[in-house]
Amino acid sequence: MPFVCALTMVISMCAYAAAQQQPAAPPAEVAGIPVNYDEAKVGAYTLPDPLILLNGKRVRDARAWAKQRRPEIVRLFEENQFGRSPQRPSSFGFDVFDKGSPAFGGKALRKQVTLRLAGSIKADLLIYTPRGAKPAPLLLNLSFTANCNVADDPEVKCGEVWGPGKKKIPAVQGRRFGRIDVARLLDAGFGFATMYYGDVDPDFEGGLPLGVRAAFLRPGQTAPAADEWGAIAAWAWGLSRAMDYLETDKDVDARRVALHGVSRLGKTVMWAGARDTRFALVVASCSGEGGAALSRRNYGETVAHLTAPSRFTYQFCANYGKYGERVERLPVDANLLVALIAPRPLLLQTGDKDFWSDPKGEFLAAVAAGPVYRLLGRQGLETDQMPAPGTGVYHTLGYFEHEGGHGALPSDWDEYLRFLKMHLAR
Ligand code: GCU
Repeated sequence: MPFVCALTMVISMCAYAAAQQQPAAPPAEVAGIPVNYDEAKVGAYTLPDPLILLNGKRVRDARAWAKQRRPEIVRLFEENQFGRSPQRPSSFGFDVFDKGSPAFGGKALRKQVTLRLAGSIKADLLIYTPRGAKPAPLLLNLSFTANCNVADDPEVKCGEVWGPGKKKIPAVQGRRFGRIDVARLLDAGFGFATMYYGDVDPDFEGGLPLGVRAAFLRPGQTAPAADEWGAIAAWAWGLSRAMDYLETDKDVDARRVALHGVSRLGKTVMWAGARDTRFALVVASCSGEGGAALSRRNYGETVAHLTAPSRFTYQFCANYGKYGERVERLPVDANLLVALIAPRPLLLQTGDKDFWSDPKGEFLAAVAAGPVYRLLGRQGLETDQMPAPGTGVYHTLGYFEHEGGHGALPSDWDEYLRFLKMHLAR
């Protein structure tokens, strides 16, 4: 299970490995904190209402949502969960070092770009666009591994990944995981792009000096302030910089770019899509606590587990830790995070044995975000009955729970493609 692996630097691989395995019995305690898996002990809770402003007034139309409530909720998530991110620095730029070569037997055009993020921090973006109708819609994937490990294409630059001892090693020496069947997307008329999250900011405690956040520390500042970005916000910021490039690529329809990420990267794509409305659609796989699962529901992982000192404090802003023991005071919850994607399509993919990530908590968050989708003239899930595992609900909000554990299964890609075609195909 991922949380067993979490203290090592190969954590990220576990998300993928776990999806393939039979889930083990969930642990009763993590980081010394009990874990509840009993629906009878979830407890009563009241969610923040997405359509009531902090001043108590009700949001009655799309304009009040866009001008008042949405910015207010973004700010609340910044201050209390993910942390504020900086503007794009004027030094930002990119180098297209592979300007367009045939790939996948001529099915696609491949481009490779180095994004100069800030300071000395650079990230490689790999892009395929299908031959034929251009500009193409595209799925932008945030990956646990470098681009050469994701696509089955020998011409992709071999980047580096974080290895033991907080040192980067050539990606080919890292574990092989996170492969994606790019040809399948191309055949369906979609482009595909991917970048490695570790290029942006490392995924371990003490990684701050080695990532992009260090480039924004003010003189004398040794850590982000309590309301400034954690690693998830930094990864999400990196996706926005990838979008800055994609907007300049004539082969890509920048108005039809979807995001995809798994697990902590599911949380990341939720936040990236919430902040940056240029992303047209989000597919979040097993994003769980801190992502699409309700925090006020005491089931599986909780804010207290996420922010325990031995676990993932660095992924969030320091303020988030204040709510571990009093989640009822957290000014936000996952229903508001889902609502920030509205009116754009969002597919939540979970697993019926992924108890740690609370798949039901994700479903309930989506149900509770429905009024915002409807206010904006779209459909939410339009049911409060969870679909049986292996079946889904598909409207502007979508929910699909596979039979199995944590992560994205190959068969989940059928559902992703169905959702992408439903909303982004012409
Ligand atoms: C841990 C963590 C989760 C996270 C997961 C992952 O299990 O507790 O919140 O989603 O790792 O990223 O694999």
